[in-house]
Amino acid sequence: MFAPNTLAGRVAFITGGATGIGLEIATQYSRLGASVVLASRNQERLDAAVEALSKEGAKVAAYRMDVRNPEEVEAAIAFTLERFGALDILVNNAAGNFPCPTATLSPNGWRTVIDIDLNGTFYCCSAAYEALKASRFGGSIISIITMLGVTGWPNAAHAAAAKAGILSLSRTLAVEWGGDGIRVNTISPGPIGDTVGVQRMYEETGRAEVEKKRTALGRFGQCADIANAAIFLGSDLSGYVTGDNLIVDGGRWLKYVAA
Ligand code: NAP
Ligand code: COA
Repeated sequence: MFAPNTLAGRVAFITGGATGIGLEIATQYSRLGASVVLASRNQERLDAAVEALSKEGAKVAAYRMDVRNPEEVEAAIAFTLERFGALDILVNNAAGNFPCPTATLSPNGWRTVIDIDLNGTFYCCSAAYEALKASRFGGSIISIITMLGVTGWPNAAHAAAAKAGILSLSRTLAVEWGGDGIRVNTISPGPIGDTVGVQRMYEETGRAEVEKKRTALGRFGQCADIANAAIFLGSDLSGYVTGDNLIVDGGRWLKYVAA
């Protein structure tokens, strides 16, 4: 759907880029001409993703790191600059979550998810700032959140608060860093059928059909739907778009509010 050179010459750094939505973004980005760095904790998953992408000719590298560790994040950005000479697109996609009623959520359980999702996103934005400012295309930061951060998310208060925090951070940075040519946006996916999370939460528990009906379009999304939004926000197609939250949820949150 996009011209083959849509992302030609760009370098993207994608946290959680070895699985699910992050891997689909990395795959589509590289098919459209970008070099990609995948950053997450599990070396085996990183190696498998690099192998798969390399087979189709991608310019790809992996860096093992935990987004909760600012020194590791700094080192990963330095690695990216060393390997590919620039950084143009930062995709904050890594996240952690588990369902837990708030009444029994421990302080460390709360802290762990806030640390991965919100603090990790801040560390990545902060570490990438100078490189994004120097981008010849103008830097682009894209963070993957969810409208459940806006509506509230029973049994996932930690993840909801973290995603709401990322939305707020992104809007602040859009203004603070706009003068540096850096655009800052978020994407809010709805339930994405070809992810392990939705398979586990909905398909394996027999809730899939009910959850599909909760979307206006009556179906789950696909990782490719989110990758398409990330291509738009990472490229010149969205050159005048900043501080936006692109909702790609099949109308789920509106139907939820209207019900
Ligand atoms: P996923 O495959 O589990 O992706 C999460 C990624 O984050 C994994 O690659 C994981 O790799 C990485 N990660 C987790 N903790 C990390 C840490 N401390 N440091 C570095 N990397 C870490 O899930 P997904 O469904 O594709 O989700 C991707 C994004 O979309 C998330 O932000 C999620 O909240 C959002 N989202 C998903 C849906 C959905 O329906 N699936 C809906 C709305 C929003 P390692 O474990 O190897 O570190
Ligand atoms: N219910 C209640 N509390 C839980 C829990 C659950 N299902 N899973 C973890 N916790 C609590 C732990 O008990 C611990 O708190 P405590 O010290 O008070 O006991 C705290 O959370 C940290 O758990 P730990 O297992 O040490 O964290 P970790 O750093 O090894 O892993 C997670 C982080 C928990 C987020 C883990 O699920 C993860 O790595 N997830 C990444 C993949 C993912 O979540 N994908 C979905 C993307 S949206």
